[in-house]
Amino acid sequence: MNNTTSSNAEENNNEMVVTPWEVKGKVDYERLIKEFGTQPLTPQLLERVEKHTDKLHLQLERKIFFSHRDLDTVLDLYDKGTKFVLYTGRGPSGPVHIGHLVPWIFTLHIQQKFNTRLYFQITDDEKYLISDNADLKNTAKWSYENALDLIALGFKPQDTFIIYDTQDIDLLYDITLEVAKRITYSTARSTFGFQDSTNIGWIYWPAIQAAPCFIHKKLTGENVPALIPAAIDQDPYWRVTRDIAQKLGYYKPAQIHCRFLPGLGAGGKMSASMPETSIFTIDPPDVVKKKIWNAFTGGKGTAAEQRKTGADPTVCSIFQYYFFLFEEDTAKLAERERKCRGGEMLCGECKKDIAEKLNGFLKAHQERREKAKDVIDQYHIKR
Ligand code: TRP
Repeated sequence: MNNTTSSNAEENNNEMVVTPWEVKGKVDYERLIKEFGTQPLTPQLLERVEKHTDKLHLQLERKIFFSHRDLDTVLDLYDKGTKFVLYTGRGPSGPVHIGHLVPWIFTLHIQQKFNTRLYFQITDDEKYLISDNADLKNTAKWSYENALDLIALGFKPQDTFIIYDTQDIDLLYDITLEVAKRITYSTARSTFGFQDSTNIGWIYWPAIQAAPCFIHKKLTGENVPALIPAAIDQDPYWRVTRDIAQKLGYYKPAQIHCRFLPGLGAGGKMSASMPETSIFTIDPPDVVKKKIWNAFTGGKGTAAEQRKTGADPTVCSIFQYYFFLFEEDTAKLAERERKCRGGEMLCGECKKDIAEKLNGFLKAHQERREKAKDVIDQYHIKR
């Protein structure tokens, strides 16, 4: 597919490509803010969020969430008594990896602090349409498996509504029609890079990702904005949805965008299509250890050299794990960075620590995931 952020991809294979279906190369987040036309999260805006959340969430403090559209408007409305709903989702193409959990953990935090509903869309239809080898049985299996991961994070059934697209399309269908009627093929083609060879299911599909932005009104009669926490690759969907929302009598959906957790290889986001560089939530401890052991770091060729000249945490995939999730104490993170740069702590030690932390986290997550099997039905959106 074409895309809006790459030109001449052959020239340089580290060239950035960021579309809803493909992320590769070195991602330049400042450039994405400009090219996508989003807003950076300013200190003033973060201060406003902090007023509602006691303490700024780690992911905001560390700029893992770094960009937005209309978060200010959503907060203005909230302060005047109009709530918002949260909306995010997952394409069930395979097991969930740690990178997927990052925005979900943040979503839970916002849900708890603002006391809002979450609509969570599982897009088995999308994955079926865009992938040559997906079949609907398989996507249904992963829909179930991926929902367990969401529930395991601690979402509560009273205010968490999972939409499984192929099962729940009746709920979405009229909204998708309202949306689809107002987006021209020309807009869709230039936004998503559709080609003559693109199947027509895929061309309609963006209307289905737009629908949950507006479903709250249909279900409850309340017209409130949706706030979407998600990685920035999903932004094209919201661009087209925002353009038509007001014509349909809805608020424009607002977004808060996060970065991608890098994979364990050199560069690139964690991607389920490269299993050796992704930690899946269902990985057993020995697999985790092995993947971590083979991970790309900023280390040097020999221990002696590294003790002398230090290593480079900025390119290290392991350091990113501490940064994104596993070292919440910022002073301790700085200490780890200092020891790494100074050659005091070698990669082996750092890897051993992270494997332990990861396996501790996964053990608890996997237990909660098992328990989720008994309650998963309670989360399924009701008519
Ligand atoms: N298209 C997303 C994916 O492939 C799934 C998704 C649907 C989603 N609705 C969303 C993601 C809303 C974020 C926010 O993963």
